[in-house]
Amino acid sequence: MSRTEVKLRSNDPCWCGSGRKYKRCHRGSEGRVLPGRVGPLRSVPESIPRPDYVGSGEPLRRDEPMVKSASVIEAVRRAGKIAAEVLAVTGAAVAPGVTTDELDAIAHAAYLERGAYPSTLGYHGYPKSICTSVNEVICHGIPDDRPLAEGDIVNVDVTAYIDGVHGDCSAMFFAGEVDEESRRLVEVTRACRDLGIAAVAPGRPISDIGRAIEDHAHAAGYGVVRAFIGHGIGESFHTAPSIPHYYTPEARTVMEPGMIFTIEPMITVGSWREKMWDNGWTAVTSDGRRSAQFEHTLLVTDAGAEVLTPEP
Ligand code: MF3
Ligand code: CO
Ligand code: CO
Repeated sequence: MSRTEVKLRSNDPCWCGSGRKYKRCHRGSEGRVLPGRVGPLRSVPESIPRPDYVGSGEPLRRDEPMVKSASVIEAVRRAGKIAAEVLAVTGAAVAPGVTTDELDAIAHAAYLERGAYPSTLGYHGYPKSICTSVNEVICHGIPDDRPLAEGDIVNVDVTAYIDGVHGDCSAMFFAGEVDEESRRLVEVTRACRDLGIAAVAPGRPISDIGRAIEDHAHAAGYGVVRAFIGHGIGESFHTAPSIPHYYTPEARTVMEPGMIFTIEPMITVGSWREKMWDNGWTAVTSDGRRSAQFEHTLLVTDAGAEVLTPEP
């Protein structure tokens, strides 16, 4: 028997057994991703240095320059390479039936093998080593016991901390066979990220990046999420400058060689507006239609951009 064979009325008890009225529980959410159970915290050996926020959850205030020193640049190159490796290892495990917490376990082990700390673990209280954002989840999905279903699309977002700096990247993976519309969404989103990177040039304002991304997304008929943006990164996980993925004249900071930031557009089939789950982290599209994201950490060079999180 499937749920759809039973036509529940608004005030009937929900099929899920919660005891709540159907209209107050699952009505309208069939086919949506639901929060699962989040497993216990994973540990990191004391030998792996951790960022300053681990314990309190709050980063210590530091004024980090947007233009990085040669040693910070070199360190982010190492952290970025590790993040990209962890992303590839974890993405390769995406398949129907695999839970997002199993992906978290794979990623966690891959960070530790490389001597890196998973930057998200303990960041403002975030409980896991990666983010896994499935279907209509825009970003900051917390790995849980929900098994991936055939046809799901999942963003895996990996941030590695090593040698005092962070490297941050994400990509989309498919659980089995995915419908045509989702495949198109994912390819357009990857192109948006890459067109954003192509707009990186010293002497140009940061607003060029969002303009390039938005033009491509809109031409495809898609939305650009506004609530979450790219960010400077280095000794801090999130720092100046802000990188909106839509055009705004307010993003007038001029790019300079030595700046390091992420470009991580979230592109939607339908509405670009977000709703938050009760867990305070997970953002989903307001209309429940799918969203995709790709992220790289970039260095502004004399010529344009160097990708610090290259696919291995
Ligand atoms: N990696 C995400 C980003 O791209 C940040 C995740 S922070 C978390 O900026 F706490 F939600 F994990
Ligand atoms: Co980021
Ligand atoms: Co990220």
